[in-house]
Amino acid sequence: MADRPVTITPPTFTVAIDGPAAAGKGTVARALAGAFGFAHLDTGLLYRAVGVKGGDPVAAARGLVPADLTRDDLRSLAAGEAASVVAALPEVRAALVDFQRRFARQPGGAVLDGRDIGTVICPEAEVKLFVTASPEVRAERRWHETGESIPYDEVLAQVRARDARDTGRADAPLRAAPDAVVIDTSDLSIDEAVARAAAVVRARLGAA
Ligand code: DC
Repeated sequence: MADRPVTITPPTFTVAIDGPAAAGKGTVARALAGAFGFAHLDTGLLYRAVGVKGGDPVAAARGLVPADLTRDDLRSLAAGEAASVVAALPEVRAALVDFQRRFARQPGGAVLDGRDIGTVICPEAEVKLFVTASPEVRAERRWHETGESIPYDEVLAQVRARDARDTGRADAPLRAAPDAVVIDTSDLSIDEAVARAAAVVRARLGAA
């Protein structure tokens, strides 16, 4: 029988993926989780769930339960906007830290995607990726996702406003960790972006 390369995942292995909205983080994260058998958490869903819950966002974050993450309106543009607003509140972020850290360090490996995973939630992550793309390309992707029901220019303006809010906030602003590998997906197919990310994970697993 031919020798096959064997990948042994250490007890904990965290892949932290950060980047702006619609850069392809979620797609890359899901693909890596599937390929390497890691658990996956889209941390944006936590903020979206807090944003759509209404009432006091700090109380909503402290009282978040798994069922809140299954609402079917969490992926809407409005939920993304609401998430971006509540995500600027330090007490909301603080309430969500422990859950994310526990998820990141679970046995068998985990991939988390968000804005501050490699910088704040898991600075010790074995792999840090910063997945990005130009605002125009990201707006076009969002526009297609919405069924082109609103003008492209409006989606582009929303993307720019969200970038400004996510990068400009005082607490845990969106930025690449100094040791993150940057993957710009503007001119990449999904398969190409996933292949680049998987190569980084494979190299780190080989060295682990
Ligand atoms: O990734 P997303 O579009 O679902 O995120 C929605 C908003 O939530 C985003 O604009 C900023 C906020 N967010 C954050 O501040 N930190 C994270 N780790 C994930 C999302």
